[in-house]
Amino acid sequence: MNVLVIGGGGREHALAWRIAQSPRVERVLVAPGNAGTAEDAENVGVSATDFPGLVRVVRQNDVELTVVGPEAPLAAGIVDAFHAENLRVFGPTKLAAELEASKVFCKTLLRKANVPTAEFRTFDSAEEASRYLQDREDMPVVVKADGLAAGKGVMVCDDRHQALDAVRRIAQERQFGAAGDRLVIEERLHGEEASVLAITDGRTIVTLQPAQDHKPAYDGDRGPNTGGMGAYSPAPVVDDAMLHWIEEHIFVPTVHTMNRIGRPFRGVLYAGLMITGQGPKVLEFNVRFGDPECQPLVMRLQTDLVELLDLAVEGRLNEIDELEWDPRAAVCVVMASEGYPGQYSKGHPIRGLDEAAQLPDVKVFHAGTKRADGQVVTAGGRVLGVTALGENIAQAKRNAYSAVRCIRWRGAWCRKDISDKALQRPQVPGSS
Ligand code: AMP
Ligand code: GLY
Repeated sequence: MNVLVIGGGGREHALAWRIAQSPRVERVLVAPGNAGTAEDAENVGVSATDFPGLVRVVRQNDVELTVVGPEAPLAAGIVDAFHAENLRVFGPTKLAAELEASKVFCKTLLRKANVPTAEFRTFDSAEEASRYLQDREDMPVVVKADGLAAGKGVMVCDDRHQALDAVRRIAQERQFGAAGDRLVIEERLHGEEASVLAITDGRTIVTLQPAQDHKPAYDGDRGPNTGGMGAYSPAPVVDDAMLHWIEEHIFVPTVHTMNRIGRPFRGVLYAGLMITGQGPKVLEFNVRFGDPECQPLVMRLQTDLVELLDLAVEGRLNEIDELEWDPRAAVCVVMASEGYPGQYSKGHPIRGLDEAAQLPDVKVFHAGTKRADGQVVTAGGRVLGVTALGENIAQAKRNAYSAVRCIRWRGAWCRKDISDKALQRPQVPGSS
């Protein structure tokens, strides 16, 4: 069959690369893609939010399955638009995608489903939120804009002064526009973060191996938040027993409650978790694969990804065999443009990609790249996701950084400590 992947980042390159390896697949198209997807698949010059354009691509190329990468088209209702045309698409409907698109909806649903999450209140105005902060004890809180704000609408505050400032920026100055129409103020949690993703057809839930992202820009988790500077899997902070617990106490009640309120969820349910002293608590849900968590996950996944996604679309996920994983670990190091996550320039030629590609157990996923005058040049803030397998996390890390050292362009940088949190954990006897 022919498959269309929507999006143009590292996640979409990883998905397209793995999908192209399926024995069931003839052609993989990516809209709009990047220089990497142009090599492992075929790019079509249609944007991820041009629904009529994407429907045309599907019809003209006999695409049987469309896989949506980013949240923006999901939140804008791409799945509903495809269903209206009788097209098969993997992802949640607009109503179900509100789990990510509205933090007020998400928190309210978590409460209804009795899923562990930080204590919270929601507010419709800056005045109401400020009054609440003034009246309560001065405690560390997190202030969140309700809507999508590219990961920037979350402000972790040490005290009342910072929290009032966050409320002002979100709800008065409108730094995130309409995303700040409503606010969530919640208890600040402490612990280590982990990402656990599950594929569901609304009935069966297939949990993937745990992963961990690195959101802050600089080593030691310092600096501004980014889309994610690297990821690895498995994440030893979540062991098998905890993974089962997460399935039972987080995914099952969430999927069940979405059904009960008439918003059945199909697609990837991504739980951003804080592993606290009282166990895992949900920080947020995303309704898609994480970027960069997707890169190490698909590097390790040995089950046919197309089979998995196709059965989810069919509502027949109960027929999938237990997932097969490469027992080795995978580490993805994001190489970024100078200045990211702030302002950066584009168009710098990237050298050393061929050299890196020759290293064993390495795959360089492209994110912000394009082809210009026969060369691969930078075209975004996060440029590459250099991903490697290794016998354990330490070896996967060494392999990934060996590949990073092959690659250069003007202003290229990366974090040097991706996966160190896993390495710093006390070794449990019997674990690798
Ligand atoms: P979110 O988009 O809701 O996942 O928030 C982005 C980041 O903010 C998370 O990855 C955490 O690092 C941090 N964060 C969000 N909520 C909390 C919380 N309740 N306590 C502590 N940190 C939080
Ligand atoms: N890696 C975090 C995200 O995809 O939102």
